[in-house]
Amino acid sequence: MPLIAFASPKGGVGKTTISAHVAAILARRGYKVIAIDLDPQNALRLHLGVSIREEGRFVCDLPARPAWQDCVMETDLGVRLLPFGPQDPLRTLELAVALTQDPALLADPVRDMLSAPDQIVIVDSPPGPNAALTAITPMLDLLVLVLLADGGSAAIIPQIASNRFLGRGTLASRSADRAVLVLNQVDEAEPLSEAVMQMAQNALGKRLIGAICRDQGLAEALADKRMLIEGEEGAGEDFDVLADAILRRLRLPGADPQGNPGLFEWRQP
Ligand SMILES: Nc1ncnc2c1ncn2[C@@H]1O[C@H](COP(=O)(O)OP(=O)(O)OP(=O)(O)O)[C@@H](O)[C@H]1O
Ligand SMILES: [Mg+2]
Repeated sequence: MPLIAFASPKGGVGKTTISAHVAAILARRGYKVIAIDLDPQNALRLHLGVSIREEGRFVCDLPARPAWQDCVMETDLGVRLLPFGPQDPLRTLELAVALTQDPALLADPVRDMLSAPDQIVIVDSPPGPNAALTAITPMLDLLVLVLLADGGSAAIIPQIASNRFLGRGTLASRSADRAVLVLNQVDEAEPLSEAVMQMAQNALGKRLIGAICRDQGLAEALADKRMLIEGEEGAGEDFDVLADAILRRLRLPGADPQGNPGLFEWRQP
């Protein structure tokens, strides 16, 4: 029943790539995984191998309170997908207003998904603050913030470390240990990349839960509708290590390659 969101103050940092890979790896390990795309770009489906011709929709229709079970798309990776739906700028703005006024439009169906004891719900967020992510933030078990190992991200790391990123006051500091960081496109041969890694490690300690190397194979894999989930060297191995770290953080049992649901047991951290 954990709820995990991938988010970032920045765009184009790898949220969708990483959330799709983690979802697929957890599904391979036998977990029941639902992935929800909160981003009007509606790209998570492509990362999960769904054909661009398939017209699923869920989040864009939330003001009409669709039954989430009717909107689920099965993927070959075993991840069940709730797509955003077709992009329409005006309706996207209306959705933001509706979610701000009534966060339950999203929180209620998500709570219903989480009521199944063996379900993991993974959310891919658009960049920056947004109404959909805010609607489910109180329910989050893990907020995985993604940044690049570059200079622009270095400026944001202290905000994450001091929890200012999550707002002010006691409520924000209570949420702090639920917010963790993954650095993406790390290049060990690049001094700046190494310096940002070091800085994040010093500032966040164990809240830095993952580093994904820069891997050109990812773009090729996406074009071929493949994922790097075989633990292959490079980003594939890093995604695997990240999935392990997420399971440990949530105190979920590790790998169960045969997918025996009887092994699933979740304890509140
Ligand atoms: N580790 C990596 N190595 C190389 N390329 C990467 C890596 N991670 C992501 N990319 C590439 O970076 C681009 C952006 O990735 P992605 O769409 O996942 O980012 P995002 O944060 O979801 O973007 P947006 O903010 O637009 O939703 C993609 O072309 C992706 O293939
Ligand atoms: Mg994205």
